[in-house]
Amino acid sequence: MRVTDTSDQWWKIAVIYCLDVETFYDSDGDGIGDLGGLAERVDYLAELGVTCLWLMPFYPTPDRDDGYDVTDLYGVDHRLGTHGQLVEVIRTANDRGIRVIADVVINHTSDQHPWFKAARRSKDNRYRDWYVWRADAPPDTSDQVVFPDREDSIWEKDPRTGEWYLHHFYRYQPDLNVANQAVRDEIARTMGFWLELGLDGFRVDAVPFFIDDVETAAADPGRPDVPADPHQYLRDLRAFVNRRKGNAILLGEVNLPHRDQKKFFGGNAADELHMMFDFITMQNLYLSLARGDVRPLAKALRQRPAIQPSCQWATFVRNHDELTLDKLTDAQRQEVFDAFGPEPEMQIYGRGLKRRLPGMLDGDPRRLRLVYALLFSLPGTPTIFYGEELGMGEDLAQEGRMAVRTPMQWTSGRNGGFSTAPPRKLVSPVVEGGYGPAHVNAAQQRRDPDSLWSFIRGLIAAYRSCPELGWGTFEVLPQPDHAVLAHRSAWEDAAVIAVHNLGAEPTEVDLTVADREVLLVDLLQPGEERTDDRGRVTLALDGYGYRWLRVHVGDDARLP
Ligand code: NOJ
Repeated sequence: MRVTDTSDQWWKIAVIYCLDVETFYDSDGDGIGDLGGLAERVDYLAELGVTCLWLMPFYPTPDRDDGYDVTDLYGVDHRLGTHGQLVEVIRTANDRGIRVIADVVINHTSDQHPWFKAARRSKDNRYRDWYVWRADAPPDTSDQVVFPDREDSIWEKDPRTGEWYLHHFYRYQPDLNVANQAVRDEIARTMGFWLELGLDGFRVDAVPFFIDDVETAAADPGRPDVPADPHQYLRDLRAFVNRRKGNAILLGEVNLPHRDQKKFFGGNAADELHMMFDFITMQNLYLSLARGDVRPLAKALRQRPAIQPSCQWATFVRNHDELTLDKLTDAQRQEVFDAFGPEPEMQIYGRGLKRRLPGMLDGDPRRLRLVYALLFSLPGTPTIFYGEELGMGEDLAQEGRMAVRTPMQWTSGRNGGFSTAPPRKLVSPVVEGGYGPAHVNAAQQRRDPDSLWSFIRGLIAAYRSCPELGWGTFEVLPQPDHAVLAHRSAWEDAAVIAVHNLGAEPTEVDLTVADREVLLVDLLQPGEERTDDRGRVTLALDGYGYRWLRVHVGDDARLP
């Protein structure tokens, strides 16, 4: 393994940036962000240092679940633009060194999709078996619904044919019958289509849900065509995607305990998903922040299963959904609620928060920087949601998860520079108050070397210069202060040590980082330390302070 090999498996040290085209930049003044606008802003992403752009669904949709209810898997929502403009975005991004991936929604379609409209026409319609039906009355499934504020069953009775269809999400999102070979063929065809147009992979929505559906179908003796092992579907999908495009990835949404996630990587064969979001580490990071005690985070990281070199964790502190805390215990979740979202309107679904990070941290710039320094230092590929680089806030007046899907704040001007349309025509209102565009905007922060934006840009550059963080072996370094996470990522002949202080008090950390004298060079600010001849060093940290240090042993090839 050499540094030159890192480009083949680009996702191991990527910086992923997620955005929704409709809230990013409106180029034609109709109040809705569009692909033409995104093309205009690709250079902004390049300047920040992003290497992979993740587009939320841009397909035609009745928009009842913000585009995750698709009516044409091959289409582009005409409000956003055309296929031609999407290709322009991809080419422009590629030219600036940015790959583009997009959400693919396999688990379900909109109930307005022509397949479902046909399927519900009669029991013998040729699309009937493209969805999942039952003839008998379903049992109580209220404990299985994803959105308990809106649904109380995962089955909905269809009046016309008198049968119930499965919908793990909203009732207007019927689950596709992924056990049906014709459905699988069509999904592969659509993914092949988008790869031809230039995508470098997919964020695969709701993976465990459709794998469960296959498992249920496989248990049915009347379905000998369904492979007994539901994971065969993910293996087939990965093989197909990589046959079509060798470097394309599947980044799966699999919010399961770590031990179950290993299976979705394909175990030691590593032949299923290339990447998965690390929900467990994210949730324990918040618990650690709430307690000012790194032990929950350190435990999650230590228990994270080892993965094969071609696989990777996507690390994050915020995404477009609720900030879910569903894998914490009730008491732990309450601790995070008490610390970061005590008001009922800040909470959602009984399991998560509607807030973005700055509000949770009372806008404290020291803590914000600490969290992002920590995020980028963790083993994995950091993933950020648009506006995080500016410290954008949420709008709690917006319904549910829409609180964090407000327009990107480009300038201090009208509509935050997002659109020239009258405010009432905007796809979503711009955040008001202290986190509004007058105080938080890209134009001002790009020019300010002390802004959060400049800080994140520096972090991205530092992360990209440390392949150890994406590729290396990770170890939590023992030291007695529970407010401090000290960790080391080592790869080949290189290593990075990172120390992060979750506490408000300054502290000193005694570490042993080698078995001889080494030079430690700061990567985030000017500075260096030399250990004693047994590799011991004492590092001073401010309250909420952090340091990343490269270990230099003799004449190694890395630039000090
Ligand atoms: C997960 C997506 O992240 C979420 O936004 C969506 O509502 C559900 N899947 C259903 O597609």
